[in-house]
Amino acid sequence: MSFSLEINGTAYTVDEAQSGMKLLDFLHDVANKTGTKLCCGIGICRACTVAVQKADNDFAEPMIACSTPLALLKGARITTVEGVADGDRLSDIQQAFLDNFAFQCGYCAPGFVMASEVFLSWLQTAEVTEPELDALIDNAIGDHICRCTGYIRYYEALKTVSLDMLEAKP
Ligand code: FES
Ligand code: FES
Repeated sequence: MSFSLEINGTAYTVDEAQSGMKLLDFLHDVANKTGTKLCCGIGICRACTVAVQKADNDFAEPMIACSTPLALLKGARITTVEGVADGDRLSDIQQAFLDNFAFQCGYCAPGFVMASEVFLSWLQTAEVTEPELDALIDNAIGDHICRCTGYIRYYEALKTVSLDMLEAKP
């Protein structure tokens, strides 16, 4: 049985033969979205994180594409790192990672970007105070592995964008 899903706003039909694929293989081999990286391939490093919205009123959630069967994503809206910039304008977190020299080889960067995008879109409407931010950021990106050890810079960039967002709230 075929089904459909959306990747960065484009609809795809998954046929029966493809429904047994992992999401990462579909992104690379069918959708030609190679920005999502394969690193450990066993669900540990989170380099392959994408954002998945399962239903209209759901928040997007971070999902590890290397280990997620496509069959679990019927009707889902998937956003990959290719889908967050607005033309040539980077998203706020992409720009902050760049400004902060957060990544080196960049292999882990798409996963950090997508986990941060999910966190920030949640933060936009959440009732959060500044003292709570550290623990929330740790929860959002603390499990991501960066072999070049850019952890502090990723963290600081996300905190800067988060604080700006809190300050801009009415
Ligand atoms: S490549 Fe998916 S968790 Fe490491
Ligand atoms: S920048 Fe190289 S793995 Fe993180």
